[in-house]
Amino acid sequence: MKRSLLAATLGALTLACGTPDPSKDDPGTIPFDPKRPTPGTTSEVTAYTGSDVDVLGAQLTYPTGIDLHRKLVMRTCSGTNGVCHNQKEYPDLHTPGAFVASIGAPCNVQSGTASGVFDRCERLGDRFRFTEPAFKGIEIGWFELVPGESPELDPRGTRPDASTVGLHLYLHDPVPVEGVRLNATGTFLRNFINDQGNVQELAFASYETRWWVLDDRRHLFAEVNENQRDTVESLVASGIVQGDQNRNGSYGARILGNTVPLIKPGKPEDSYLVARLRGYMGEQTVPGTRMPLANQPPNVQDMLALMCFIEGLDPAATQWSLGSAIDYNKCSYSANPSALSLAGSGDTWAARVLPILQSNCGGCHGGENPQGGLNLLGSSHDVYTRLVLKPSLQKPELNLIQPGSLDKSYLVLKLTGDGSIVGSRMPINPLNGNSPLPEAERQSIENWVLLSGAVEN
Ligand code: HEC
Repeated sequence: MKRSLLAATLGALTLACGTPDPSKDDPGTIPFDPKRPTPGTTSEVTAYTGSDVDVLGAQLTYPTGIDLHRKLVMRTCSGTNGVCHNQKEYPDLHTPGAFVASIGAPCNVQSGTASGVFDRCERLGDRFRFTEPAFKGIEIGWFELVPGESPELDPRGTRPDASTVGLHLYLHDPVPVEGVRLNATGTFLRNFINDQGNVQELAFASYETRWWVLDDRRHLFAEVNENQRDTVESLVASGIVQGDQNRNGSYGARILGNTVPLIKPGKPEDSYLVARLRGYMGEQTVPGTRMPLANQPPNVQDMLALMCFIEGLDPAATQWSLGSAIDYNKCSYSANPSALSLAGSGDTWAARVLPILQSNCGGCHGGENPQGGLNLLGSSHDVYTRLVLKPSLQKPELNLIQPGSLDKSYLVLKLTGDGSIVGSRMPINPLNGNSPLPEAERQSIENWVLLSGAVEN
């Protein structure tokens, strides 16, 4: 009984993680009908007929989600070494089916490293309890199986610590049991939605051994003897959901309220995939290397297609098709596509932001003794590294540039003259005291910080 439950769980997890299925790589076996309505010919989607070259270009290159998968996702994910699907850190988006399956699917399910996990990908963890002495299940923050020879442990002498060989569980709350050592069966619990649509608690695995209650009673250590190794390995492989998968003490699903999926229908800004391309989501930096690692980064038109595709997915639907036309006409990002630049053109660091700073600010912020201790002259890279994620001198609690946040980027606040700044609004005009930057230039800096994640390109 226990085995079959475990097997069922394993099956479900494998699906969720999108293990690459080589048989689907062959375009001849793509499991749907690649219908491609040309924009304008379907009843709901009217073609964009405006004059923005990026919108027109995106519409031409990426009329449907299928094109988006074939020409953009495959390029950024598959690359020479299959960046996305060979590394656990990345979701497998190799087939159109896997791409569709990533809509609404959890992110960072099988991250290679704990630190690569984004808080907002953390789901509510599975729970743990002892069968006897019983207590209410406690959320699992994270676990670690420390490999090696099991040591001799002795209640009066050697006690386990965080590095002791065996299974370590770190829980959200202290376990309400007496003493430090007990022989007990630990049970792992998860909620399922049953056929009637009700939430049902299921014990999906259990482990009987000698347990130690350590530290603040939220750290449990389970002894693993030679003959228990297989049991523990299959327990670990069953994919216990960890509420604090990145081990930073914050439980993403609890603290931030909403866990984000890989692709959130209707909400590009809340889609991990987009955040991963940009390097940030909202005001948070997304850990890990920005995708794509090795391939040509997406340009404005690529990003526009992705954003409009996601925005056009119906959040109320349960199934989506890549075959529908992407609605560039209704898409909100069509209003200002150049702001979506991650590289190459539009509001980029090298082509736009740096020249604005150097010509408007360099006169005072340069040379031997730059005003305000801020030097905005020098090589592109030097200036960039002085600003991004570097604290301001006037308000050290804020960085000069905080990717993804205007309110937390002190340099931006100095340009708008926001009430909380120290000193004057910038740029100071030595003749009349103050004359703000032209609106278009300030907008470019803001786009670069907010929409392009202040990347150096
Ligand atoms: C005429 C000289 C002058 C010009 C031009 C000027 N600044 Fe300043 N800047 C100053 C002085 C003086 C200070 C320190 C006193 C203050 O903040 O009022 C300062 C301070 C700052 C600070 C605070 C530094 C920190 O680490 O907290 C920032 C940011 C800044 N300037 C950005 C800019 C930007 C961006 C521009 C161009 C758009 C610019 N400044 C143009 C003179 C200038």
